[in-house]
Parts: sequence; structure tokens; C-alpha cells
Amino acid sequence: MALLTQAPKGTQDVLPRDSYKWQYVEGLAMEIARLYGFQEMRVPTFEHTELFNRSVGDTTDVVQKEMYTFLDKGNRSITLRPEGTAGMARAAVQNGLLNEALPLKVSYLVSCFRYEKPQAGRLREFHQFGAEVYGSDSPACDAEVIAMVGEIFDTLGVRDLRLELNSIGCPECRARYHKALKEYFAAHMDELCDTCRERLEKNPMRILDCKSPVCHKIAKDAPKVLDYICEGCSAHFEGVKARLDALGMPYVVNPTIVRGLDYYTKTVFEFVTDQIGAQGTVCGGGRYDGLIAEIGGPKLPGIGFAMGIERLLKVMDACGAEFPEQPACAIYIGSIGEAASVKAFALVNELREEGFWAECDTMGRGVKAQMKYADKLGCRLSCILGDNELESGRANVKNMRTGETHEVAFDDLIDFVYDAQVAVLTESIRETEINP
Ligand code: HAM
Repeated sequence: MALLTQAPKGTQDVLPRDSYKWQYVEGLAMEIARLYGFQEMRVPTFEHTELFNRSVGDTTDVVQKEMYTFLDKGNRSITLRPEGTAGMARAAVQNGLLNEALPLKVSYLVSCFRYEKPQAGRLREFHQFGAEVYGSDSPACDAEVIAMVGEIFDTLGVRDLRLELNSIGCPECRARYHKALKEYFAAHMDELCDTCRERLEKNPMRILDCKSPVCHKIAKDAPKVLDYICEGCSAHFEGVKARLDALGMPYVVNPTIVRGLDYYTKTVFEFVTDQIGAQGTVCGGGRYDGLIAEIGGPKLPGIGFAMGIERLLKVMDACGAEFPEQPACAIYIGSIGEAASVKAFALVNELREEGFWAECDTMGRGVKAQMKYADKLGCRLSCILGDNELESGRANVKNMRTGETHEVAFDDLIDFVYDAQVAVLTESIRETEINP
């Protein structure tokens, strides 16, 4: 029975009292992205497993250990997306979007699924806001994407995030780097976990982000990729840094960032905080110049990022970032008796048509219980209709905060609620001016 009322491990409900925070964060991120030229794209929650094997890479932790993969009734191997980039690239190729004006810029809000060990900030279903740019290999594009992430965090009032930057080079640099890594890890062969022993031949870079504590410790002293990148990749990296410098955007070069997904080339970056525990990476991204061709599309470069919404909300709470006030019910129209209940219903309907959140009784409650509910909802105004009010066409409207009452004709109710709403807004603007 417990299973019926218990969500699966590693998942979270977003309750009505918190959903406005999600709407605010997602709406603001999408809006800033729109100003940078990104348009939303929506893709399926599941894809053919092969897409992730090819793009994310079959030697990554994500593919080897964390994917929700199953055979559907037609015997196809299907996987719930562990991230958004692969599906976005697939959709861009399939729908011929890359034959249109470039760069193509898409943004997205997606749920992702990874079978990881749940802990604070690490879920099995989580949500990402992300964006991808296809078609530009200029460092200006890298800097633009990073600047956009910075602007989203700034506007949300997130403080104490560190931008960490690295370059992991192109396939040629990678070949040299792999050779150095193989030599280094071969000396520690006996200590590595089974998965990493297998990775040593095929993809030694993946040992660098293995979550096993022993591999992690050994990886700390491994050769650093920045020492192996070619002139072209180095110039690209300098170009990105120069543009971030020009914007006055602080960053640190962290030569240990390699990211846990195989498609990256050249620039990789993370926005990290120390305020929410071990899972402090709020946003990760980078360039992937080989991915589109790898999945059968044209030979076009790409770059993007994704931020975890759960981690973002956590860091906002931790640093005291402000959310807009939760919208409150403008008026509760209580009633005594059937005729008054019908009138209340009609008035509430008119108010809603004018854009106000208005409520009346739909539970058949007595007037005392109706008012208790209005109070719990935090309604700004309330009134009670009975025979007298129906006869006079007027009601005493009470300001629930101050207790003040005003007699208002039914015909003037919309104007009255409007004025009260304006007064609340003016008050809150004044308060922000006094305590910015
Ligand atoms: P990622 O670093 O795997 O990159 O994930 C991006 C963000 O998703 C992380 O920084 C984190 O905030 C959040 N996240 C990841 N795993 C979990 C989890 N188990 N629980 C909660 N939050 C999580 C990508 O997914 C790439 N697709 C980003 C990208 C886009 N690169 C280029 N374009």
C-alpha cells in the first residue's frame, strides 16, 4: 500500500505553494533567452537509446550506469532522456532546421532522468532550462552563451556563483591527451574500479569524472588537458576569455573540468556554488563541434548549456534571492442562502472575466466556514451576500488586512476591486523603494 502514496525514490513533487517559484524562474530564463534570440523547442521525453549512446557516449557514467532504458511493445530500445542536448540536435537535423538561417538558437525546459544515487541536489528525475546554438564556431558565440547564463543568474539575484572555464580541445588535441592519460592511469591500473579499467583503453578521459572515491583521488594528479591543446584551440580559448574580460565577467580557469558527457570539444564551463552542499554545479555546458555530424547531420559546430532548476531554486533560497510575492485571491464573495449563492457565483464570474482571482463557496458551507476558508486563502477583500444585500444591490466589502469596510454597489464591485489591487501594488512598490 505504501507504494501508492509514495513517489519513486529520487523524484520530487512541486506543490501548489511552490509552483509560482518555478513559473517565475522558468519564465524569466525563457524571456532573457528570447532577448538573446533563442526560440523554444520541445522534443519527446524519450528517444531511441542509440541516440544517447552515440552522442553522450557509451563509455560515460550516464550511458553505462544511469539511463532509464526499456524495450517498448514493438521491441525497440527506448531511453528516457538523461539530458536535453541530444534530443535537440536530433530534432534540428530531422526537421531540416540546420538548412535554414544560421546560427540557429533554441531554448528548452525539459525533465531529465538519470538513475543516480539520490542525495541532496541529486535526483533521478530533475528539470533543466537549457539553450543550444548551432552553426557558429566563433569564440564570440561561446562568450555570448556564457554571458546569457550570467545575466539569468544576476537577474534572479543569485550570488556567490563561480564561473569555471576550461578547454578540452579538438579531436587532435584529444589524441595527444589520451596518450598521456593512458600512461598515467596505467601506473594505477590495480587501484582503478572495474569500469575505469575498461575505460582506460577506449576513453581514459572518462576516468577523470568517475564517482568512485578511489578513482577520483587518483584522477586529481592526472595530466591536465590544457597542457595538450593545439594552437587553434588555444587561440579559440583566448578569444572566449578576451570577450568575457571585455564584459567584466569574472571567471576562473579550472583545468580539471572535463564534463561527464562525450560530445564536448574546446570550451567547457560550469557555474558552481559552495552554498548547497556537494552537488554545487548549478549549470554546465560547452561546445560540441562534432556532435551534429556524429548523429548523421551536417558538419556544423554547436554550443550550449543547461541549468538544473532544482539546484537553482536551492541556491536562490540559500543566498536569500527574492521571489515575487505569491499572487493572492483578490476577493471572496460569501453567501447565505441559495439566491445569494447564485448571485455570488455570477459576480465572481464577472470578476474573473476582468482578470481578477475571485472565489465563492462551492462546498455548500455555512458562512462562518466560508470566511475561515477566505482567511486561509489570504484573500485581500471579502463580502457576504444575504437577502438584504440582494435587495439593496450593495454589499459591505471588508479589507481583510486592515478590517476596514466599504459599502459598494454590485455594479461598482469591479472598479472597487481594481482600485484595491492598485493600492496593494503601490504599497509594495513603495516598500521596495524604502527597503530595496
Ligand atoms: P550536465 O552537467 O549533465 O549537462 O547537467 C546540467 C545541469 O543539470 C547540472 O549542472 C545540474 O544543475 C543539473 N543536473 C544534472 N544531473 C542532475 C541530477 N541528477 N539531479 C539534479 N540536477 C541535475 C548536461 O545535461 C548538458 N546537456 C548541458 C549542455 C547543453 N551542454 C551543451 N548543451
